[in-house]
Amino acid sequence: MKKTIRLVFYFLVLGFIILQFFQPDKNLGDTNLHDDLFQVATIDGSVKTLLENSCYDCHSNHTKYPWYSYISPVSFFLNKHIVEGKAELNFSDWGIYSKIDRISHLDDICDAISDGKMPLGSYLILHKDASLSEENIKKICDWAETEGMRLLKEE
Ligand code: HEC
Repeated sequence: MKKTIRLVFYFLVLGFIILQFFQPDKNLGDTNLHDDLFQVATIDGSVKTLLENSCYDCHSNHTKYPWYSYISPVSFFLNKHIVEGKAELNFSDWGIYSKIDRISHLDDICDAISDGKMPLGSYLILHKDASLSEENIKKICDWAETEGMRLLKEE
């Protein structure tokens, strides 16, 4: 019996080690290139910092990876959020979005943070500093509204 338990344990360890050779592609493209939100939009430094700290890991072409993100299967779990997050909204592609899409994203951004839907709860467990205070939510929403209005008036 003891021997079986030991054998199962060895198999699990071996499986875990083998799993480490399988890793998803890392999201490490350049950000802040000419289509990035920060280049295209009118946005001040403090809102920039908030979006960078709380959203850019999943909604841009460049993720800041913590050490545990290199451990499989955690890496796959994180990658899924990045792929799905970028599919919904990619700040690195802001300049490619049509004006209507930008305005609609600005609206969704304020809704998502006001409802507490974003940043994702699972992300906040290990990224406490990404959590948004009421004051910061208001700051982002005010910016989103101003930027939306600016786009509406733009030729
Ligand atoms: C841990 C990854 C992660 C972080 C961090 C994150 N998001 Fe998301 N976001 C996602 C994923 C995954 C989806 C798509 C699935 C869904 O809607 O839950 C999404 C969807 C969205 C959507 C579109 C759909 C909706 O729910 O309205 C908006 C807008 C959005 N996120 C804004 C933000 C903003 C703004 C921040 C920063 C304050 C942020 N997200 C931070 C992963 C993330």
